[in-house]
This record gives sequence, structure tokens and C-alpha cells, in this order.
Amino acid sequence: MTRNEQIKWFKEQETPFYFYDLEKLRMVLKALDHEMDQYGYHMHYALKANANFKVLTEMIDHGYGADCVSGGEVKRALEAGFDPQKVVFAGVGKSDSEIKYALENEIGCFNVESLEELEVIEELAKEMNKTANIALRLNPDVDAKTHHYITTGLNENKFGLNPNDLDSTLALLKKSKNLTFKGIHFHIGSQITELSAFKHLCLKANDFLQWFRDHKLKVEWVNVGGGLGIDYENPDEKLIPDFANFFRIFHQFLNLENGQSLHFELGRAIVAQMGEFITRVLYIKKGISRSFAIVDGGMSELIRPALYQAFHKIENLSQKGDPDHKYDVVGPICETSDTFGKQVSLPKTKRGDLISVRSSGAYGEVMASQYNLRGPLKILTSDDEMD
Ligand code: LLP
Repeated sequence: MTRNEQIKWFKEQETPFYFYDLEKLRMVLKALDHEMDQYGYHMHYALKANANFKVLTEMIDHGYGADCVSGGEVKRALEAGFDPQKVVFAGVGKSDSEIKYALENEIGCFNVESLEELEVIEELAKEMNKTANIALRLNPDVDAKTHHYITTGLNENKFGLNPNDLDSTLALLKKSKNLTFKGIHFHIGSQITELSAFKHLCLKANDFLQWFRDHKLKVEWVNVGGGLGIDYENPDEKLIPDFANFFRIFHQFLNLENGQSLHFELGRAIVAQMGEFITRVLYIKKGISRSFAIVDGGMSELIRPALYQAFHKIENLSQKGDPDHKYDVVGPICETSDTFGKQVSLPKTKRGDLISVRSSGAYGEVMASQYNLRGPLKILTSDDEMD
């Protein structure tokens, strides 16, 4: 379908809805594999970014594993058909029932974030007569230079093992028959566009690897998490993120030994650009100091602008004129923060026009709520276009 045909098809649909262009996703995946395969790296797609079944099927077709942060995500990954051995389970607050579920299903690895958690996994694994593979999430204290809400690798953040607990953690790992130490895990934050942050991560990871070598513990897996950012300003021109330089940094700066494999957990960089949130203008309201384009989708469907003051490119799909009018594009929710963009330059906009909020494939649908008792979320994909 051409873009024009697609817009025509959008116009026939009830709004608001997310649209996922699976062809775009396939292009991103092809580019990703091309770069990653040069080095033999492994991908565990971060389900938290988008857990739609059609999206997950594409990841499975590429042989990826899944990075999950809740029992619900582990369940979704298994239902979608991921190889349980390629499922990793992270998160600072895994509940007993989530741990049991993961043990029952013999997932590949628990990314453990505290000594206290490791003790519970050991206890439950013993009870169930299971063995759990363990990677320790370490906090490298690297500044990812991104929004403070999505920075995770600083000492002040809640993530990762307390370094003061490392000795007791290793003692438990060495002693336990139900735990197998496999490797180490890092994740420094999300929407990282300054790639030097990943170089710093590599240098810190090298220190940790040396520490484990000194303590005679074999690290088989090194998992450096996700975090590669995308270009929200240019969703078409920058459909493919800078995978080449991203992987080159790890190849260049991380000192891996023979037999050590390198794992990634990208989310946003894979799925953000394939998605757009389509909403319709209900009213053009003249305010005292500005005009508002009030649309039928709101922060209950796409919360990123309200929560992080995140920028998403906004387009009017119904008008072709010069973008010589300015509108605050706002939703119907009873909150001032329910704003997709302020003083957005658009062609003269009318009631009934379709608005696209671009780059919404990551952390859009998954973060939606029912706030204001909004209706169920509607998702369309390029597979539906033919129907
Ligand atoms: N691995 C771990 C352990 C994570 O915590 C995350 C994201 C990822 C991987 C994937 O990161 P990505 O490649 O997508 O950057 N809701 C926020 C983003 C929160 C990210 C949380 N962790 C947003 O809308 O910007």
C-alpha cells in the first residue's frame, strides 16, 4: 500500500488506534541482524517495549530470545512461542509466584538484582527440585545522559546488586546446588543517543570481568541490556537506528574471552519507528492565547509526552498545505498534562482531520491505562490493511 492508500484506509477506521507497520519492523530487523551477526551477538528482545503477538512472532522468526520483567511478560513470551531457554527474567521485585512460574517453565536465566532475591530463588528452586541459571545484575554507575526517569545505571538508582553484597552473593552461588552462576548483566538506561555512554559501560564491565576472573568464577554470558535511542524528530529518514556504531563499540571496547557470549536486550530501537498513534480532531478550539486541536486520543493511550515530556513528531494526515498554523495538540483527558505537543506547526487543521503521533511503537500500547474509563485500546497492523 502507498502512504496515500494507507491514509485513505485509516480514514475509514474508528479512532483512536495504534498502527504497526510490520514491513518497517522487518526492515529494522534485517538491518539489526546484518550488524549483529558480524560479531555473533545474541538478542533478547525487551518485551516491555511492545508485547503485541504479531510483533513477538517477528522476533521469534529472527531467532531472538526475550527479556522479561514480570511473570506476565514471561507468560506472554512463552505463549508467543519463544524458546524458554532464551527467556531472561529481570526486575528488582520478582514475587514468589512469578519466580515459581519461571522455574516451572525452566526459563534460560534469572537476572538477579539483590542478595535477598537470590536467597528466595534458591529456596524456591530447592523446594521445587529445580536448578536456576543466574546472572547478576551489576550497577556500573555510568551516566546514560538521558531523562532522569529512565536512567537506571547510577548508584542512586534502585537497580542492580549492592557491591557490598557481592562476596555473600558469590558464597551462596558457590554453595548452592540449585543455582548455577552463568554471567553478569547491566542496563544503564533507555533512549540513549550519546553512544559514548556505552563505551563507558564497556570499560566498567571490563573491571567487573577482571574481578570475577580474580575470584575464579567463570562468566559465560555477558548481557549489556538495551537502551539504544532512536530519532524521534525523523521517523522516516531514521527508521534504522545506528546499529552499526552501537555494536562496533562493544566489539572494540569490551574485553571478552573465548567462550564468553555477548547478549543484548534492545526494545525501543527495534519497535518504536514501526508504530504510529492515529487520532482524529474533535474540535479546533480558539483559546485566549493559542489554538487547541482537541483530539480523540489521549494520555490514557499514549502517556510518554505527559510522563516524560517526550517529543513525538505530529502530522496532520488529512491536509497537504504549508504548516503555517500553530496548535497545542491535546487529548480529552481531564489533566493539563494530556498534551501531545505544544505549539505544533501544522497546516490549517479542521474537525475530522486525522493526526498521526509518530514513533509510537515502543512504550505506547504497553503503558496505556483505562484512566477516565476509556474504551479498549485498538491496534491495527499492516497485515490488517488487506481485510
Ligand atoms: N533491559 C532492561 C533491564 C530494561 O530495564 C530495559 C528498559 C530494557 C532492557 C530495554 O530498553 P530499551 O532498549 O527499550 O531502551 N517507558 C520509558 C522507557 C523505560 C525503559 C525501561 N527499561 C519510555 O517510554 O521512554
